[in-house]
Amino acid sequence: MNSRLNLMASLFLLITLSACLKDNVQLKSYTQDELSVLRQYLDLPEEVYNYAQPQLPEHMQNGGFGGTTITNHGATLGRVLFYDMHLSADNTRACASCHVQAHAMADVSARSEGVNGNQTDRNALAIGNVRFYYFDRGFFWDERASSVEEQIRMTISNHKEMGVDFELLAQKLEALPYYPILFEKAFGSSQITSERIADALAQYVRSIVSGHSKLDYAIEQDLASKWWELESADLPSLTSQENRGKQLFMQHCSSCHGNLLFLGKPIANNGLDIEYTDQGVGALTGNPSQFGLFKVPFLRNIALTAPYMHDGRFQTLEEVVEHYNSGIQPHPNLDPILKRADGTPKQFNLSEEDKQALVAFLYTLTDDSFLKDPAFANPFK
Ligand code: HEC
Ligand code: HEC
Repeated sequence: MNSRLNLMASLFLLITLSACLKDNVQLKSYTQDELSVLRQYLDLPEEVYNYAQPQLPEHMQNGGFGGTTITNHGATLGRVLFYDMHLSADNTRACASCHVQAHAMADVSARSEGVNGNQTDRNALAIGNVRFYYFDRGFFWDERASSVEEQIRMTISNHKEMGVDFELLAQKLEALPYYPILFEKAFGSSQITSERIADALAQYVRSIVSGHSKLDYAIEQDLASKWWELESADLPSLTSQENRGKQLFMQHCSSCHGNLLFLGKPIANNGLDIEYTDQGVGALTGNPSQFGLFKVPFLRNIALTAPYMHDGRFQTLEEVVEHYNSGIQPHPNLDPILKRADGTPKQFNLSEEDKQALVAFLYTLTDDSFLKDPAFANPFK
């Protein structure tokens, strides 16, 4: 009995102690000497930004499944890494070269330019709200990475993206004067390892949240936690056109794309082609029943992330809506939601007015404050 009590007491002590240690790591701010080194390269605030507990509307405060804990110093380091060209083989590309804040962390080119003049095979996915992915969500268009950390390792070593041996990267970064300071703040010692690089980047990627769109505001103002009414009720904060678009979206789109309160399907075939040149999930698994299946992207800030689809084939949201309205192609794996009872592709046959309403609704998912948030901006001078 006694020994069990002892064990419990020491466990308790251990937990309190490690919590204190974590707090210390978190709270330590820069000394003047450290600041003068950092300021030669970086424009960092004296007080680190608040990444751990961002201001979010109530309907976004639950969730945040799995993954590393975010600390303010960890995510600050992650932000510097995210913008640092030294992470690529030829020092020409950073994560932020393809994930641009002004475009909600997506790229304006259909295919992004990587190291040594290479191009990526697919359109860069927007990053945002990754921390709200459920367990069944993978990363990339074919969901080949099961965590942000794995995704980061794959990206850094991919010869078309950054082309750096991930294990050697730690050595390369040691030569840069700002990293020992930033690693010390984030992890309690200045040692640079590939695990720590992935961890800090993952903290930053998970800290990228956007919760201040017009629709978020309307949910907060008009529903007062009666969230189940989002699908059916008109929201006074939206225009009648946007409300009409919301109706159409909830009817035709949300079962796959989710709404701002729940996620929809992880992967689907949305009838882009009869024959896909890129088989998506099927190319990875070789399973014909998965040919032409791709990740269903989240649609937050969608008005800012053109071009659209895995190959960036559509330039505008009007084109996207027209695809669903009249362009869905027959494919053996076409999702049942997009088929009629006889198995042929649905044609929504929307009026011009309804198509415009749907686009107007998609614009209510834009969060301008996110684009200007200094916590996600380039820290380099
Ligand atoms: C050369 C351009 C390029 C660079 C550099 C780049 N990315 Fe990407 N990123 C992409 C492309 C393209 C995709 C989609 C690729 C795919 O699905 O096959 C992607 C996908 C992602 C995703 C998946 C999002 C999702 O919802 O599944 C995340 C997260 C991400 N990148 C983060 C990063 C981070 C962190 C870095 C730096 C370590 C980085 N990217 C560097 C182009 C790039
Ligand atoms: C059966 C599931 C499904 C339904 C229903 C669906 N989508 Fe999609 N949507 C997808 C998939 C899968 C993709 C990615 C396809 C690809 O790139 O190959 C996608 C892509 C998109 C994109 C591009 C996203 C990006 O980041 O490039 C937009 C915009 C979009 N859908 C809007 C809509 C709208 C509007 C509706 C309703 C009219 C709708 N979707 C209905 C599955 C669906």
